[in-house]
Amino acid sequence: MDVYEAVTSRRAVRGFTDRPVPRETLERVLSAAAWAPSGSNLQPWHAYVLTGEPLADLKKRAGERLAAGDPWDEREYEMYPPELKTPYRERRSAFGQERYSALGVAREDWEARQRAAAENWQCFGAPAALFCYIDRYMGLPQWADVGMYLQSVMLLLRAEGLHSCPQMAWSVYRRTVAEVLSPPDGLVLFCGMSIGFEDVTVDYIRTGRAPLDETVTFVEGQPAGEAS
Ligand SMILES: Cc1cc2nc3c(=O)[nH]c(=O)nc-3n(C[C@H](O)[C@H](O)[C@H](O)COP(=O)(O)O)c2cc1C
Repeated sequence: MDVYEAVTSRRAVRGFTDRPVPRETLERVLSAAAWAPSGSNLQPWHAYVLTGEPLADLKKRAGERLAAGDPWDEREYEMYPPELKTPYRERRSAFGQERYSALGVAREDWEARQRAAAENWQCFGAPAALFCYIDRYMGLPQWADVGMYLQSVMLLLRAEGLHSCPQMAWSVYRRTVAEVLSPPDGLVLFCGMSIGFEDVTVDYIRTGRAPLDETVTFVEGQPAGEAS
C-alpha cells in the first residue's frame, strides 16, 4: 500500500470485528511509528496498548459507569473552543449530520445519539486499543508532535490491513482508564484509539473535506534568479 492509499483509506471506523490483532503486528506498527518527527526529538508520546482481558475489563468498567449515569471526569483539556466560529461551526455540524444520518438517527433523537456515542466506550467492538498520554507540563508544539505520532500509527495500521478510530471520548472517562493502566503521575490522557479489522456490515458515510483553496494558500512567483 502506498502512502496516498494509506492516507485516503484511513477513516474513523466505528465498527470492528472481534478478530484479534496479533501482538507482532502491533509491535511492528508502533516500532515504525516511533520514527514520527518531534521538536528536538523529544518523542513526547506515552502509548499503552490494551487487548484481551484488560481491555474487556476497561470496557466493563466504562459500561458500568455509563449505566450508573456517572458524570464525566473533569476535563484536563478543552476538546474544542467554547464557541466555534465559521467555518468550523459549519464543518462540525456537517460532520454530525453525516454521522447520525449514516446511523439512521434523527438529529433531535437525543437518546439514540447517546446510545451511538456510548459505543465509544466499548471501542466500537475493537479487540485492541491504544491510549496516548502526554506529560502535563508539555506545550502546544509537543501536543502537535503527539498528533503526528498518532497519524503515523493510523497510517501504518492501514498498511497492515487494519483500521482505527481516534477517540477523545476516552478523556472524559480518564479515571476509569487510569484504574486499568495505572499510568505514572503527571501524565494527561489525550485520547484513546480503537484498533482492529473493520466490520464491513456497519454503514457509514465518508466524511468530506473542504476544497483545497479553503485551507491552502499558494504564494507563487518565479524561481529565484528568474524574476524579470
Ligand atoms: C484527536 C481526535 C479525536 C477524535 N475523537 C473521536 C471520538 O471520541 N469519537 C469518535 O467517534 N470519533 C472521534 N474522532 C474521529 C473524527 O470524528 C474524524 O476523524 C473526523 O470526523 C474525520 O473523519 P474521518 O477520520 O473518518 O476521515 C476523533 C478524531 C481525532 C483526530
